[in-house]
Amino acid sequence: MCGIVGYVGPRPVTDVLVPGLAHLEYRGYDSAGVALNTGTSFDLIKTAGRIADLEALVDAEDHSNALSGIGHTRWATHGAPNTVNAHPHTDEAGDVVVVHNGIIENWADLKKKLVESGHEFISDTDTEVVAHMVADRADMTLRDAVTDIMNQAEGALALAVMRKSEPDLIIGARRGSPLVVGRGDGENFLASDIPAFLEHTREMVIIEDDRVVEVRPESVRLFDLEGNELEPEHRKIDWDFEAAEKGGYPTFMLKEIHEQPHAIADTLAGRLSETGRVVLNDLDLDPVLLRSIDKVFVIACGTSYHAAMMAKYAIERWTRLPVEIDIASEFRYRDPVLDDRSLVIGISQSGETIDTLAAVRYAKAQGAKLIGVSNVIDSALARESHAVLYTRAGLEIGVAATKTFTTQLVAMQLLGLYLAQVRGTLDPGAIELLVRELEQLPEQVATALESSAAIEELTRGWADVRDYFFLGRSGDFPVAMEGALKLKEIAYVRAEGYAAGEMKHGPIALIEEGVVVVGVATDTHVQAKTLSNMEEMKARGGTIVLVAEEDDDVGEVADHVIRVPSASDLICTVTAVIPLQLLSYHVATARGLDVDKPRNLAKTVTVE
Ligand code: AGP
Repeated sequence: MCGIVGYVGPRPVTDVLVPGLAHLEYRGYDSAGVALNTGTSFDLIKTAGRIADLEALVDAEDHSNALSGIGHTRWATHGAPNTVNAHPHTDEAGDVVVVHNGIIENWADLKKKLVESGHEFISDTDTEVVAHMVADRADMTLRDAVTDIMNQAEGALALAVMRKSEPDLIIGARRGSPLVVGRGDGENFLASDIPAFLEHTREMVIIEDDRVVEVRPESVRLFDLEGNELEPEHRKIDWDFEAAEKGGYPTFMLKEIHEQPHAIADTLAGRLSETGRVVLNDLDLDPVLLRSIDKVFVIACGTSYHAAMMAKYAIERWTRLPVEIDIASEFRYRDPVLDDRSLVIGISQSGETIDTLAAVRYAKAQGAKLIGVSNVIDSALARESHAVLYTRAGLEIGVAATKTFTTQLVAMQLLGLYLAQVRGTLDPGAIELLVRELEQLPEQVATALESSAAIEELTRGWADVRDYFFLGRSGDFPVAMEGALKLKEIAYVRAEGYAAGEMKHGPIALIEEGVVVVGVATDTHVQAKTLSNMEEMKARGGTIVLVAEEDDDVGEVADHVIRVPSASDLICTVTAVIPLQLLSYHVATARGLDVDKPRNLAKTVTVE
């Protein structure tokens, strides 16, 4: 997730680009830059750090000769967050500039060809290929060049591109990643999101996927990837600033819940082959070493620990390696048995959680090999680890983890299958079947999100319910644990996550009239037992809500059934948690609470 801004018109260009980027800073803020087109050259100003750092650099010089420009605020996916990797990127001659949001999945292939034909790259980004590809198409119009590149680039991406010889033209292109045009009088704006231009205009043009847009001061023309001109769809924006930053959603949390199909697609991008294999080229660990491992530890805190719970089931089932999981703050104090044949996986979306960092440092000191799973490029966990697997959820602002959790589940499923592939513990046919299921996940999560209105309706009368249980077995157990944590942290009600079969050993004493019991019953090999456990809760007066797959016969036990698309056990954890995120969200909002900033919590916990 990054932010793009472009401007053509009579205003001082930096007065539009820099505040526009500041309004998009929620999309990423590890580095930023602008390219100002004077008609004879580009002034390229870039820096690691925040928009305020960029603003200081811009203000230090006179840019009144700039006629137009593009800018970018970055949330790193390829390459560390430094000044060289900051956008805009350019070709060797400095004729072309480009900013980009998203991931070009086949960038390595494209780069290889460009290097073979003599191009020199200075950054580690996927974006730079676009600048060199446009330079190679000097005989084409800029629109044709970008259209041609969109037809070759794979993945979700949005681009803004300029040539120095055409200061009155910005070409934008979109597939998967957002891009909108703001329409002015004798001026036009291009941006990843509306807040970037909301103080200048409330007229906008929607850009659909696989479209190329030609933005000039007096005109906006829209084309498909075959070059056919299309009629632009105009809209009037009636949001205020705050609503605009949240993309029209009332809270960041709800926006992030709805971003999950995209976040999961990004996390899978380039990691599944057409032949049904898992491709983790970015996980720089010798397969010989991975074959020598005899034990796995997965360490994390909070929501990330629930991803670790799922990882235990997946890695043990698929690789037959023994897996221990630990709450990070407990790990060091139990004197775990580690050596150089131990693989330790630390999961932390922020990559800065001190409990997790202390635990993995301890494991490393015992000789263990360390894989970090993080959502933040170059985080402390990433730097500490021998190899890193990044989730690509984009920036998460809501304190309650949602899209970073589902992408962690996906990352751990990828890693589990990859280990099975390298160690030869699953046959290729079985791996291919699971790979095909992973490919379906973004669409399945989008389907699961459709239950939001029904869940809001269901929870309407629950504002005063004080006791909830979330129950599941096997892969449904970590999902239940996560459902309970979400409800606790944003709705401030008592919610217990429990292994469904364990209730009869004590906690069932708490079940009575008025207690809501949410059962997760998507894991088919234990489903009958989970349903029996739910009968036991019902018999004691609990209100039963069941999360089940769309085709499953779950009998009459539930007062309410929430359906999710069918998938294999463990893969289904990703869709099964969606109704629980929505449930906690709607209960919390019904109780009038601020879900984005729950009391007593911090997004990143850097104290022990
Ligand atoms: C999740 O909703 C919580 N905010 C919290 O439990 C979080 O998952 C935990 O603090 C770990 O954070 P990390 O993934 O950044 O390490």
